[in-house]
Amino acid sequence: MVLHRALFALDAERAHGVGLKLLNLLPSRPANASPRLETALAGMNLPHPIGLAAGFDKNATAVRGFAGLGFAYVEVGTVTPRPQVGNPRPRLFRLETDAAIINRLGFNNDGVATVGKRLRALGSRPVPLGINIGMNKDSREALPDYLTGMNALSSLADYITLNVSSPNTPGLRALQQVDRLRDLLRPVLERRAELARDLARRLPVFLKIAPDLSIDEALAIAELARDLGIDALMISNTTIDRPATLSSPARVETGGLSGKPLMQPSTALLREVRRGIGKSLPLIGIGGIFKAEDVLAKILAGATAVQLYSGLVYEGPGLVRRLVRDLDRLLDERSIGRLAEAIGADA
Ligand SMILES: Cc1cc2nc3c(=O)[nH]c(=O)nc-3n(C[C@H](O)[C@H](O)[C@H](O)COP(=O)(O)O)c2cc1C
Repeated sequence: MVLHRALFALDAERAHGVGLKLLNLLPSRPANASPRLETALAGMNLPHPIGLAAGFDKNATAVRGFAGLGFAYVEVGTVTPRPQVGNPRPRLFRLETDAAIINRLGFNNDGVATVGKRLRALGSRPVPLGINIGMNKDSREALPDYLTGMNALSSLADYITLNVSSPNTPGLRALQQVDRLRDLLRPVLERRAELARDLARRLPVFLKIAPDLSIDEALAIAELARDLGIDALMISNTTIDRPATLSSPARVETGGLSGKPLMQPSTALLREVRRGIGKSLPLIGIGGIFKAEDVLAKILAGATAVQLYSGLVYEGPGLVRRLVRDLDRLLDERSIGRLAEAIGADA
């Protein structure tokens, strides 16, 4: 598509802003998934496993637009209690020869009050909606910020994601240490129980982790998450690693790397977690999805559903419909009856 290519002539952050605006103008075309692609995630029955990853629609300005691209579910955020501007620009870089992105945006977002207002104005949700929450850069304590996010946004969400894995907020990733995580998750999940009671429905809470954890660290987190009642573990956020294969000049930039180079390491970690923890905790596979083969690889490694971000930047707005169509064909080729049967088959 010409327009899609024209966006690559712009600075990455301007292209992102223009792309978001254009999205709301696109006609809505559902993905028309075959019933064999259905998957159930924390009580949500999804027509296919592909969702939008957090960070593309941080402020929930284009939920209908993304639903119209065919995503089975959409995650907005990360939203912090107070609005914040994020890091100085430039802070978003395309690594075009690597089909990758580096970002150090630093949770630029409108804050829970504005995002909440926007979602209330949206009315009914076109697809299941996740809201990803985090802490402000200048907050001294994490827990109050996550509780504020839960309190302000739960009634507008089909699930809440606790983001403890962005590399661009100082100290955030340290929340992944098991003792600190336990201290965070316990009260958050107690609050979840109260909110779910008030809402008279389930309120799934997901946890999103970094790909840079060791297998042992990730497994310890998975066991804790399962034992405390987290509904799904999302693997993974961006990486601070810089694989030796990177060739784009922007590879030297500080921040989180996403896109094709993340496919292998994030899927490998997902597989190890599935091996260690079995079926007892649903996993969501994120990182480097560009093709239906990538989706299937994550499902076979143990993912119940997947999300993508960078693939959409490089492949354009037709990507989700293409993935859904190709995934169906791939199941035929592999003699897999239903996608849900394939979850963890390769773990
Ligand atoms: C520009 C950009 C901003 C992002 N912002 C967030 C964010 O606010 N919260 C979050 O949990 N993940 C964020 N992510 C991470 C993505 O949700 C996803 O985990 C990661 O990009 C890997 O998927 P991908 O390879 O398909 O892009 C961001 C990614 C990018 C590229």
